Amino acid sequence: PFVPVLMAGGSGTRLWPLSREHFPKQFLALDGGERSMLQATLERLGDLPAGKPLVICNDSHRFLVAEQLRQLGALNRNILLEPVARNTAPAVTLAALHALREGDPVLLVLAADHVIRDEAAFQAAVRHALPLAEQGRLLTFGIVPDKPETGYGYIRRGTAIEGGASSVAAFVEKPERAVAEQYLASGEYLWNSGMFMFRASRYLEELGRFRPDILAACRAAMAAPSPDLDFIRVDTEAFKACPEESIDYAVMEKTDAAAVVPLDAGWSDVGAFGSLWEVLPHDADGNALQGDVIAADSTNNLVIAENALVAVVGLHDTVVVQTKDAVLVAPRARAQEVKQIVGRIKAAG
Ligand code: GDD
Ligand code: MG
Repeated sequence: PFVPVLMAGGSGTRLWPLSREHFPKQFLALDGGERSMLQATLERLGDLPAGKPLVICNDSHRFLVAEQLRQLGALNRNILLEPVARNTAPAVTLAALHALREGDPVLLVLAADHVIRDEAAFQAAVRHALPLAEQGRLLTFGIVPDKPETGYGYIRRGTAIEGGASSVAAFVEKPERAVAEQYLASGEYLWNSGMFMFRASRYLEELGRFRPDILAACRAAMAAPSPDLDFIRVDTEAFKACPEESIDYAVMEKTDAAAVVPLDAGWSDVGAFGSLWEVLPHDADGNALQGDVIAADSTNNLVIAENALVAVVGLHDTVVVQTKDAVLVAPRARAQEVKQIVGRIKAAG
């Protein structure tokens, strides 16, 4: 068995105005369905030998998370609250330190905001990774890349271990564009999916080698956790003092114990509207339409209407998102730049 750890502390700013500061994308049903991305992440575990899940999120989202877990019957004093965001290395460290109190389980660290189409393939990859994690490896799940994306980690496969898994010859987080193009052309690299599997103690051991400062700060923050109904709280001042870093830079780029299990399961991290358009179902003209939308003589658009009729004519390769208090229109290819809008809104107060 293993403990699922769901990282749910991201802000999803590139999906504004769907994703908001008080309601980021992991808590939304981006496919227009009934389950939020967080809930879908839990349900995707199916009948894997998963123990009680642990969700780690920002304090300000605690009631959202509690309600969404309750809906699945999965609320059970298992929400670990971060008073401030310090990125994923500290988040996973708090989860690992918490898990150590009940033995030394293998953790399956999952992002709460990914889409995976083929659940059976995902479950098979997890089953495959579990014994390797038990043996002390730090596993990642690798995706065959199809574009020179610079927002991902790249993994060069090393020697074969067993049944398709390999050691990691190199892990490069978010390379420059030219480097990403070279990696793609070489055919030797996989994308890091951002999901990991390892024993709690092994992660902490490797973190302690490379970032003892993060380990020490998190230990201090966890020294006297105060259980509070459904929530596990850490010491605010101690955690504020923790350096900010991602698990990729802090541990995965540096450890010799990394291994990668290939994952071909229709994975997407739905980082921006471009990838949301890709994962949603399309009509015959390549339009992904949600809500009350009429599209005439229009192709390859993403149009989302929350509470009004939205009509487009002669529109191509464009994103249109209508919500009750904001409308976004942007070329699909520039959807990443929505992040700047959020920056401007914040700056304007
Ligand atoms: N609890 C918590 N606290 N969760 C966090 C925090 C935090 O401070 N920061 C981020 N997260 C969550 C996000 O919600 C997301 O689910 C996940 O952790 C990963 O964080 P991102 O900020 O989305 O990372 P990234 O997209 O830049 O890069 C990672 O994912 C890529 C694949 O999507 C890396 O692992 C890359 O190597 C990888 O390719
Ligand atoms: Mg991401």
